[in-house]
Amino acid sequence: MNEKELVAHHAAKLVQDGMLVGLGTGSTANYFIQELAHRCTEEGLKVTVAASSVVSTIKAQALGLPLVALEHLSKLDLYVDGADEVTPDLTLLKGRGFDLVKEKLMARASDKFLVLADPSKRVDRIGARFPIPVEVMPFAWTLVKHRLETFGGRGDLRQTANKDGLVVTSYGSLVLDMAFDPALEAAELNALLNDTPGVVEHGIFSGLASAVFVAVAGKVEEHWAK
Ligand code: 5RP
Repeated sequence: MNEKELVAHHAAKLVQDGMLVGLGTGSTANYFIQELAHRCTEEGLKVTVAASSVVSTIKAQALGLPLVALEHLSKLDLYVDGADEVTPDLTLLKGRGFDLVKEKLMARASDKFLVLADPSKRVDRIGARFPIPVEVMPFAWTLVKHRLETFGGRGDLRQTANKDGLVVTSYGSLVLDMAFDPALEAAELNALLNDTPGVVEHGIFSGLASAVFVAVAGKVEEHWAK
């Protein structure tokens, strides 16, 4: 079992009968979805799920998990997802898969938000390995970019993998990938991005994770928020 699979199975064990579970997006979240479906088939576990993206919706459907649309929810019992960066104080960077809006909504609406990581995701500061994904209204991207540049931001619109067009999110937004001076802390960046009109959502998840599970040398470490 690889590290992503190991943490995913660890988290799936925490799901209890009757829970409403939020499904994340990405390769680690996929292992969780698979194991959750396996428990439902093998153990008769009964859950309802809500998905954070089109991809995880399709995966849940294929595995026969009963889905509910976000529009019908007021809260979730549990949300389980991966992350691109995790700091020691459990601040996260998410959104390489650019489904930020639903991911942050579900993280905020969950009683518990469990983050699944492998050691490569650990960083000292947000932005250490990746630029910050900033989802913007299409007509606002130049104004947002200019405002972020006045705070030292550098970056551009995200391109498709084969560089023949721009990435457009499931909801028609564009994505700016912005790098900032390391001296600017995640809390300051979070406040700046929250205070920039035209930003739909961004990849800094501050104060949202209940716990981060990391697989290290075949064992799962649990880091719970204080
Ligand atoms: C998607 C995300 C993912 O959770 C993040 O990119 C991690 O992906 P993976 O589990 O494939 O390493 O934030 O928006």
